[in-house]
Amino acid sequence: MALAIYRKYRPATFDALLGQELTVRILKEAAKTGNLAHAYLFAGPRGTGKTTTARLIAKIANCETRTKDEKFRAKGEPCNQCTACREIDEGRFLDVMEIDAASNRGIDDIRELKENLRAAPSMGRYKIIIFDEAHQLSKDAWNALLKTLEEPPAQVILILATTEVEKVPPTITSRTQTFHFRSVTRDEIAEKLAMVAKAESVKASEEALDLIASAAEGSFRDAESLFDQLITFRGKELSVEDVEKMIGKVAFTKLSGFVELLLRKNLDDALARVEEIQDGGYSLLQFTKDVVQYLRRVAVLSYQPAMEKKFAAELTDEHMKTLLTHAKLFAPEHLELIKTFIRAYSQMRYSQFPLIPLEVAIIEGLSARRE
Ligand SMILES: Nc1ncnc2c1ncn2[C@@H]1O[C@H](COP(=O)(O)OP(=O)(O)OP(=O)(O)O)[C@@H](O)[C@H]1O
Ligand SMILES: [Mg+2]
Ligand SMILES: [Zn+2]
Repeated sequence: MALAIYRKYRPATFDALLGQELTVRILKEAAKTGNLAHAYLFAGPRGTGKTTTARLIAKIANCETRTKDEKFRAKGEPCNQCTACREIDEGRFLDVMEIDAASNRGIDDIRELKENLRAAPSMGRYKIIIFDEAHQLSKDAWNALLKTLEEPPAQVILILATTEVEKVPPTITSRTQTFHFRSVTRDEIAEKLAMVAKAESVKASEEALDLIASAAEGSFRDAESLFDQLITFRGKELSVEDVEKMIGKVAFTKLSGFVELLLRKNLDDALARVEEIQDGGYSLLQFTKDVVQYLRRVAVLSYQPAMEKKFAAELTDEHMKTLLTHAKLFAPEHLELIKTFIRAYSQMRYSQFPLIPLEVAIIEGLSARRE
């Protein structure tokens, strides 16, 4: 089977790591000067580059080219060509261990690990231990680890990665160099998807990629997996409809088109549109949620034009233009409309017939202002 997209396009250099500028700057500097720490803690949302960065450090520490070539070392990147770099990429380098803390969380596991750490690295210069989901470790395991952190063996680098940093004991965090991976924007994800699409000769519209990015909710990995799934089913051409069908969520154009009908009080077309959404097999609940969120943006923008900057970071230029047009259409009376839709949403969640509360909301919201 072909390599999964998310593995194929895992950043091989610090420069290719998107959205984590501060972390990259500091780690690259450490790599240039050869000042790696003994213990790191990588905290942040899923799919933002924690494991990727841990592997980059493993490569920096063991890259043969870096040992031999001083000039190359000054670049602060791994060569990705020597045996060590290649084996780390392929997950076969003996001195790099990735441990899933969720299934190796007990004290015996840690004891065994410490035993192992006492022995010198077998191939490389450094042993790198990467603990994924570190927050899952047991209390005893933390205590055992603490001793290692207090007197780290010379050739060992410990890397803890977690999505729930608040569950890591402060005694541990204070002994590690901590980096906070920030959640990435839809724009950043869409940009990477565009790059992957180009490299894979996949034709996909900007809106299709944008929709994948929004469904990924801040995770590069989720976006890349979804993209992978889509091209497995759909081949080298992706339309917005393909993506909409796959994720059961309508794209910006359909959504903003519907909201425009609401703002213009076009009752007949709004009802017809909802019927289409239902027949198209989309989740009406998701749709209603999206409508509320869209209306919220319109409302905020109409009262607080300065928010344009924030929204612009989350939307494409064209979508932003549409949103601004709708903000101009927004009147105080539309606030009631938002409330009506929020009410409909909570009723829909418990209803066997989610279409009905939604239709009632539309009728209520649009006809009340007819007299
Ligand atoms: N900052 C980034 N820049 C570019 N691509 C990224 C970035 N972060 C993640 N990716 C993509 O997502 C995939 C998964 O990333 P990674 O395994 O590093 O995530 P993670 O932060 O460890 O997530 P988790 O908490 O779920 O383990 C990578 O193979 C890569 O393709
Ligand atoms: Mg990870
Ligand atoms: Zn190398």
